[in-house]
Amino acid sequence: RRILLINGPNLNLLGKREPHIYGSTTLPDIEKQARNQASSLGIELETFQSNHEGAIVDRIQEAAGWGPNAAASSSLDDVRGRKVSAIVINPGALTHTSVAIRDALSGVDIPFVEVHVSNVHAREPFRKHSHLSDKAVAVVCGMGVYGYTAAVEFAARHMKVVDE
Ligand code: DQA
Repeated sequence: RRILLINGPNLNLLGKREPHIYGSTTLPDIEKQARNQASSLGIELETFQSNHEGAIVDRIQEAAGWGPNAAASSSLDDVRGRKVSAIVINPGALTHTSVAIRDALSGVDIPFVEVHVSNVHAREPFRKHSHLSDKAVAVVCGMGVYGYTAAVEFAARHMKVVDE
C-alpha cells in the first residue's frame, strides 16, 4: 500500500512564502512528517512537488503504472496494477485552472484527497472554484499545514484501496 503526496506550484516555498497565510512550516518538514506518519501506519508515502502542470500530469499517470508513453497499455488490468492506492494533492493555483490535472486524476481512477493550507473560501473569489473538488473523496482547507496530516490520516485509514 502506498500513498502519493503531490504539491503543485509555489508550494516549494512553503515556510517562506506569505507566512501570514501559509505559516512557517517548510515543505521538507511537511513531507518528512507525512512519511513518518504513514510509516507508523505501515504505509509507504512518496512525495512529489513541481511548479509545472505537465510534470504533475506525468507523475499522476506514473502512479497508475502508466508512463507518458503508455498509449498501448490502456486495459483495465493496468489500472489494477496501479502502484499507488491513494493520492493526497495540493495543486496550488492549478486547482483553479487545470482541466489537465482533473483529467489525469479521473483517468487513473486513483482516489484522492484535495488539500489547501489556507481557507480558499475566505480569500479572492477566483479561489472558490476548484476543478478537482467534485472528483475528490474529500477536501481539506483552512487547517494550515495540519491539513496534510488530516488528509494522510484519512487516506491511510479510511480510503478504500484496490489491493486490499
Ligand atoms: C493553496 C491555495 C491556492 O489558491 C493557492 O494558489 C496556493 C495554495 C493552499 O494551499 O491554500 O498556491 O492551494
